[in-house]
Amino acid sequence: MDSILIRGGGELNGVIPIAGAKNACLTLMPATLLTEEPLTLTNAPRLSDIRTMTQLLGSLGAEVVSLQGGQVLAMSSHNIHNHTADYDIVRKMRASILVLGPMLARDGHAVVSLPGGCAIGARPVDLHLQALEALGAELELRDGYVHAKAPGGRLKGGMIDFPLVSVGATENAILAASLAKGTTTIKNAAREPEIVDLVHCLRRMGAQIEGEGSSTITIQGVDRLGGATHPVVTDRIELGTYMLAPAICGGEVECLGGRIDLVGAFCEKLDAAGVSVEETERGLKVKRKNGRVRAVDVVTEPFPGFPTDLQAQMMALLCTADGTSVLEERIFENRFMHAPELIRMGAKIDVHGGHATVTGVETLKGARVMATDLRASVSLILAAMAAEGETVVSRVYHLDRGYERVEEKLGACGAHVERIAS
Ligand code: UD1
Repeated sequence: MDSILIRGGGELNGVIPIAGAKNACLTLMPATLLTEEPLTLTNAPRLSDIRTMTQLLGSLGAEVVSLQGGQVLAMSSHNIHNHTADYDIVRKMRASILVLGPMLARDGHAVVSLPGGCAIGARPVDLHLQALEALGAELELRDGYVHAKAPGGRLKGGMIDFPLVSVGATENAILAASLAKGTTTIKNAAREPEIVDLVHCLRRMGAQIEGEGSSTITIQGVDRLGGATHPVVTDRIELGTYMLAPAICGGEVECLGGRIDLVGAFCEKLDAAGVSVEETERGLKVKRKNGRVRAVDVVTEPFPGFPTDLQAQMMALLCTADGTSVLEERIFENRFMHAPELIRMGAKIDVHGGHATVTGVETLKGARVMATDLRASVSLILAAMAAEGETVVSRVYHLDRGYERVEEKLGACGAHVERIAS
């Protein structure tokens, strides 16, 4: 298993290109199942999660051709011959559940293994299933698989009222409803930019959808969808992660493709912590306003609130801030696994239930640490870049799920980040 060696110290200065959003791409790819015509995604990120989705779609009979080094995905689903998403692929990635809605909408039946993914809490799929039931699906859970059927071979429009906001369940519902017969209304829908991007792509394919970006989405099902070419939206989590690099290390970094509207709540916290974010023609330029950053309190919430996927990285910043910060995690119950690793580097963190109290220290110290999930792994790299001495982060396969060429991107700004192949 590879590890990452980081030599801490020194400012970061330069330019970092931000890739297309992993989470958007993972919901856009299953949209290929809704049409027999080609669907092409541009600005795709080059990540292992995308390869897992490619493998999953391939196992169903879809063709996914990776062009331009993986930045273009040319997909075609004219020959779907298998309607079972197997455990061996699905267990690697929770987003695999997103093939359920489209397969069911397309052919009236689907069998999908219950998913795996990052170990950040229970993460059930009950809301996905409730949404599909509201569209008339008949579901049965057997042997770890969801067996789904649409009576008469086609889903029908319905009312979906989510008891809590779920990004994935909203996406599955939109994908399925776009080919259902009649009108679907989704209430308490997720408002994330990745949902908006999915709707934009489906609209290019001929879907009739309104209200994306708000909590009520209305979908008028159509009989067929066509092909399209669609650019994947910028990855706001990769963006936020790299914006934190100069905040933690000093220096000035311009994140190419960055947009304030993707990271509004996050920018407010950076501002309160003493980090300036300036819009440029090419993206966002970030630097500390002066000296050490200040403590700030953070509560994670669904979009447009502070994203849970930036909580670990924000904690890395607050470890060396002046004062005491409280981070409250409201989306996932077990998402402070990076805290014990940061403590190994000298951080002062006290986790109590869904809260973590972080008292800033002057400097962190390099140590051997372990990546426990995707966002936790990058938070350790951020912390290590500002720490004294060397840090080795092991189990970096988590990192490769969500960050492309991390050593290169940070290295280009002067960081000493090196992959050690095992
Ligand atoms: C997506 C993102 C993930 C991000 C999360 C929250 C992808 C591929 N992943 O995950 O990076 O951290 O949004 O912004 O886009 N829940 C249920 N039942 C369900 C579904 C969810 O109880 O059927 C709960 C979850 O356990 C969690 C909360 O709802 O507590 C939000 O989860 P959800 O928004 O569904 O996250 P994902 O779509 O899995």
